[in-house]
Amino acid sequence: MKKSSPKKTKSILDPLISIIMGSDSDLKVMREAAQILDSAQVPYEIKIVSAHRTPQEMQKFALQAPTRGIRIIIAGAGGAAHLPGMVASLTSLPVIGVPIQVGNLEGLDALLSIAQMPRGVPVATMAVDNATNAGLMAIRILALQTPSLQHWLKKYRDGQKLKVRRANEALDPS
Ligand code: RP5
Repeated sequence: MKKSSPKKTKSILDPLISIIMGSDSDLKVMREAAQILDSAQVPYEIKIVSAHRTPQEMQKFALQAPTRGIRIIIAGAGGAAHLPGMVASLTSLPVIGVPIQVGNLEGLDALLSIAQMPRGVPVATMAVDNATNAGLMAIRILALQTPSLQHWLKKYRDGQKLKVRRANEALDPS
């Protein structure tokens, strides 16, 4: 009797989000996106992929991401920050860009490089060094079809309200 080969089933832990960055020097910022995804229990992967130093690997990554089950790409880069835009040009997945502050221009170079995309190739650009918001934006997109993430976001927002209320109470304890 012919043996049936085991089918490769998709694990619930397979990454839905890919966090990529141009250099390991970006990790201290991009780790914040990973932290927020960890707290929402969203599976992700994290990689160094450089538009300038490893362009072939970047192309391979972007072309294969959808077939690997990746739903959203978070891409951080500093300086002449071409990674988010180039990846967005190679895939239809949503790309969230994080400009990273390096060098003398305090992140303005990366911010403009990531935000000023040509019409037709969008990158959702976050504030300089704000990888937390990139993680949150990814969770908001996934939450459109995931009730448990809608619940997580509600709790996260309630937590923020509570922090402001406590800060006010600390200012005026009366
Ligand atoms: C960019 O150049 C990287 O994203 C990084 O922010 C910046 C500097 O890279 P390193 O010289 O620190 O590797 O491509």
